Formats: sequence, C-alpha cells, structure tokens
Amino acid sequence: MSETLETLLDESRTFPPSDAFRAQANINDPGIYERAAADPVKFWEEQAEALHWFERWHTALEWNRPYAKWFVGGKLNACYNCVDRHAEGPRADKIALLFEGEPGDIRKISFRELKDEVSQTANALKSLGVKKGDRVCIYMPMVAELAITMLACARIGAAHSVVFGGFSADSLAERTNDAEAKVIVTADGGWRRGHVVPLKKITDEALDLGCPTVEKVLVLNRVGEKAPEGTTMTEGRDVWWHEVVPQQSKDCPCEPMDSEDLLYILYTSGSTGKPKGIVHTTGGYLTQTTATTKWVFDLKENDVYWCTADCGWVTGHSYIVYGPLSNGATCVVFEGAPDSPDKDRFWKIVENHKVTILYTAPTAIRAFMKWGVQYPQSCDLSSLRLLGSVGEPINPEAWIWYHENIGGSRCPIVDTWWQTETGSILISPLPGLTATKPGSATQPLPGILAAIMNEEGEELYPAHRAVNEKPGEAIGGILAIKHPWPSMTRGIYGEPERFVATYWSRFKEHYFPGDGAKVDQDGYYWLLGRVDDIMLVAGHNISTMEVESALVDHHAVAEAAVIGKTHDLKGQAISAFVILKTGQESHPDMVNELKAHVAHKIGAIARPDDIFICADLPKTRSGKIMRRLLRDVAEGRALGDTTTLADPGVVNSLKNQYEDKES
Ligand code: WT7
Repeated sequence: MSETLETLLDESRTFPPSDAFRAQANINDPGIYERAAADPVKFWEEQAEALHWFERWHTALEWNRPYAKWFVGGKLNACYNCVDRHAEGPRADKIALLFEGEPGDIRKISFRELKDEVSQTANALKSLGVKKGDRVCIYMPMVAELAITMLACARIGAAHSVVFGGFSADSLAERTNDAEAKVIVTADGGWRRGHVVPLKKITDEALDLGCPTVEKVLVLNRVGEKAPEGTTMTEGRDVWWHEVVPQQSKDCPCEPMDSEDLLYILYTSGSTGKPKGIVHTTGGYLTQTTATTKWVFDLKENDVYWCTADCGWVTGHSYIVYGPLSNGATCVVFEGAPDSPDKDRFWKIVENHKVTILYTAPTAIRAFMKWGVQYPQSCDLSSLRLLGSVGEPINPEAWIWYHENIGGSRCPIVDTWWQTETGSILISPLPGLTATKPGSATQPLPGILAAIMNEEGEELYPAHRAVNEKPGEAIGGILAIKHPWPSMTRGIYGEPERFVATYWSRFKEHYFPGDGAKVDQDGYYWLLGRVDDIMLVAGHNISTMEVESALVDHHAVAEAAVIGKTHDLKGQAISAFVILKTGQESHPDMVNELKAHVAHKIGAIARPDDIFICADLPKTRSGKIMRRLLRDVAEGRALGDTTTLADPGVVNSLKNQYEDKES
C-alpha cells in the first residue's frame, strides 16, 4: 500500500444491543475497556484467576520481543480445567459434548463421562509409549473422539498436532515429520456427504512416504464395514481404539504443566512455503480463550453452543474445545456438511438440539444465501440468541441476511477477527455493549492494543489512546498489535528465524498480522483482507473485499472474488469472478449491469474492467478464496501451488473456461 487506504466502503446502519440483551449480558459495564487499558497485565492476571492453578505464577509477564512468557512459574493442566473441575462439581451430569454424526447418530457425553473417557484415552496413549513432552498427530473425522484425544494429550502433557481430515497423505506426512510425532491417532474413515473419507488408507500412504518418528497408530472404528477396501492394520504398529481404550483404567492423574509448556502445534498453510507449525502454550492460551468465550459469546450455564468449525482449524481448538469446555459449556460437535442429506442440515440441528449460540463462517453464510431462504424458514430457529462469524471479512449483505434470516432480527452478531497465531479473538463486538455495524469487527477487545500503521511503520491510529477517542475521519493502513497478549503464539515450531521474519520484522515494536484495515470516524475497525490482496488502481488503494461486497450486494450475485490484474496504465485493473445465485441466469447485459452496480455503490474508480461469471471459485479447505490462483488465471500464468485447495479441479476448469473466453 502506498499512502492511506482509500476509504470507500459506506455502511451506515448500526445495531445497538437491545435493552433486554444488555441487561442480561456477561459484560455490560463499559468500564471494562478502561480498566484493561489502564493496566493490561494486571487485567489479564485477573482473567487468569478464572482458571484452576495447581501453583500460582510468580511473574505475570516476561516480554522479550518477540517471545512472551505469561504467568511464569504457574502450574496448571488444560484438561483439568476443561473437564475435571466440572466433572467433580455441580456440572458433573451436564452435557459437555453433544455429538451428531453425518449419518444422524447422536451421542451425548456428560462431563463425568467425558472425564472417564478422556482418562481412558490418556492411559491408552501412555500404553502406546506417549510421554510428557511428546507430540501426537491427530488425523480424525470431526467426531467426539477427536476432542477427547486432544484433551487426553493435554492431560498427560503431550502436545497435539491436529491435521484436518480433508488433507492428503503428503500433507499429513509433512506435518507429522515436522512435529516428529510419536503416535498418529486416526479412524478407519469419516463420513462426508454420504461417502467415506478413507482416513486409515491415507494414513498408511503417509507412513509409506516415510515418517520415521511414528511408532504406533491408534485407529478409531468409525465407519466399520463401510471402510473402503484396503483398510488394513499393520501388525505391531496399528492398534484399534476399541481394543485398547475401553479396557483402560478411568484413573489418570492430570500432569501439572508449567504455564509455558507446549499445549499444541497447529499447522497453517499460508499462501507460500511449507506450512508453519504455530506453537501455543498452556497458561496464557487457556486464560484468554476462556475469557473471550465468556465475553464474546455471552456464554451462560444453559446455552447450547455450536461452533461449526472443524477441530482441524484453530477455531475448533479455541472455540469448540478449550474456551467453551473450560467454561463448562454444552458444545455441539457435528461431523458432516451443511448440505447433506439436504441443504437444511444446519437448521435441523439448531431445531433439534435447541442451539442458542451459533458460530460459523461467511463462506457458509454465502452458500446459505445462494441456496435460498426456504431452508432456514422450514425450521424452528427460535432457540438462537447470538450469532458469530469468523474466517474472513463478512460483507454487509451477508451480515444482514444472517441477521434477518437466521437471527430473526433479534440476535446480536459478533464478527470476530483473529488468527491461528493470535490464539484467541482480538477484535470483536461485546454483544451487550457494542452497537454493531454490518461488515465491521468493531473494536479491539479489552486488553488488546491495536494500531493502524502506514508503510513506513508509523502509527496512523495509535495503539495507546484514550478509550473514547474517535479519529473523526477514516484512517486506512496496516493492522498491527502493540502489547503482548496471553494467547499469542510462542513461535513457529523449529523455525525461529522464519517467526521473526514473518511477524516481527515489518514493524519495530508491533506484531504484524498481515491484514489491511481501516478505522472509521467512530473508531470502528474494518478488516480488509490480506495486505497482499489489496489493489493499487490508478494510484488508489482499493481492497478486494470492498468490491466483492458491492458485487454481492447485487440481487443476482451469490459470491464474488476480486483481484488486481496487471495493467499498463493503471498499475492494476480490477477483475472479478462472480457466482450467480441459484435460479439466476446470466443475460447479455449482466456483466455491464454488475459493473454499473459497483460503480454506483463505491465509485467509478472501483468499476471492474472485466467480470467473469463462473460456477465455482478455488477455495482452501477452510473456505478461503485463493485469489493468488485467480491472479494466475487472469494473467494467463501457470497455476502456482494448488495443494491446499479443497478441490483442485475447480481452478483447472476455471482456467480453461477463462482461456476460451479470452480467445
Ligand atoms: C486470517 C486468519 C480466525 C480463525 C480462523 C482463521 C482472516 C479471520 C476474520 C474476520 C476479517 C478475518 C484474516 C486473518 N480473518 N477472521 N472476522 N474479519 N478477516 O484463521 O486461517 O489463521 O486465518 O483470516 O485475514 O489474518 P487463519
């Protein structure tokens, strides 16, 4: 970005919390922001008190940029906090995990039962040779046993590395080897849209590629007879879950862990290079995930909380397992896809389990919009009281649709900005306090100091400022976080130099998350996507997200991806890929109509040079559009690395169609 980011997006609607919501909210005293700002370290210490510590810390923070140590000297166990302290108290018979499998099988596990099952799993891992300090790779479908295995690792002080069950053998081998995992926990298969994903076969392929550190493979019987041909067990290495876990003693003490001991590694792909093993430790991570779950989701004793993410992503770690369970919540765990057997699957789950809090991603919301309102309308969604969004900027159109059609216009929406690296939510509304604006993640949470920087590394909007200070006019630039926070990553596993280069070199003091952002006149933050995706059109910075929002605002458009294509005169020209809603036909004037719509919404400067109507967009497995590949398509280059795509076929056929159109 050259100068100040152009501030083009114009969204003026605001949604203050209702009096009734505010009155019952966990956080309804605005003084929390001031208290936190006055002394962030002391503020986080107060949050840490919510956990059970075997031994109290002696020093709250040791900051040795870029390495933070929080609650130094403290001893605790994450599993004890998520399971035992509830199992041993009045929540013992409360449902902890409410599992629904894709075929419709349901399992309700109370905290008491969870403690027994986690303990048995932990003892089984021990019997396979896992010790404190070892790494365990988890490659499983989204079943209750996935969360149970994570907790079992935490119980005995082994770090888990969860690899999303949609990844290939190569990806699994690469991650297993980087973490030097001793054991892989997998399943014979998992259900996906009526088909079996052959997880054990893929694990075998990964092991055949060479994973010298792996000694044992623990295999859950999930699909049984439906396991594909060639699902075999290797004598001496592979062990069935049902042959070792239920036989174990239910007694397995929680290992007292140092606050800074490794809790897990989670690999994030990034757009280039090998995946980064993001490291999280115990005390700070659990403190902040616990606090933010309670604040942001307004979590209460009677809530049925459903985060639709997979435990293969950080969202599943922080906001299915650690944050909610540490708060003693009832969490829905769903194995399947939103359109199987039909496109109302999510709404049936909400209706059947009386879900009160739903946390999902904009990519899913746009799919629901595309499928049509008849699906949510056919179900009773009246149990819902709060909605959340995460993963990418939510365009105002999708926000309003979510608000009206899922939230019945009564549920606050929390648009939560964070990253694998940040460990927990950093920018988000507090639903009992914040008047939300569709498309804005609103404000940094209490205890978080976020600045907007220019290219030169100067604060355009300072991290330290009076709580009620408003900029008065919009300021655009690069997002940066100044002060350390408890759940921040402690590094990239085995790659200290890359850690410094990626996050701590761009600015002298601040952390660099890689996102563009602007604050508006009211001090609200608008996340604009990755800095690499921001376009420079005839000297103006325009974010791809702003043009995408304008396109999706058109009644015929379901989804849009925008890129800057190299242009002789303008530097970059705006190029858009558009998916129409189900039932909408492209007509000869459609492209011009859409261009005019963008010009009308944003201004002539943002009018796309070309718009390509297509059936599908290349997305990562977590649902992010890979604009880098669209740039390759538009510029006629060979496609870059496509291994992280959910469906590599999409981009190849897109490339062919695009080239046909050009010729
Ligand atoms: C990147 C982090 C956060 C857990 C899931 C993704 C984008 C995430 C938002 C949001 C705008 C968002 C950012 C961020 N992002 N949430 N609410 N508004 N952008 O974790 O894979 O580490 O991705 O996702 O670009 O840097 P991740």
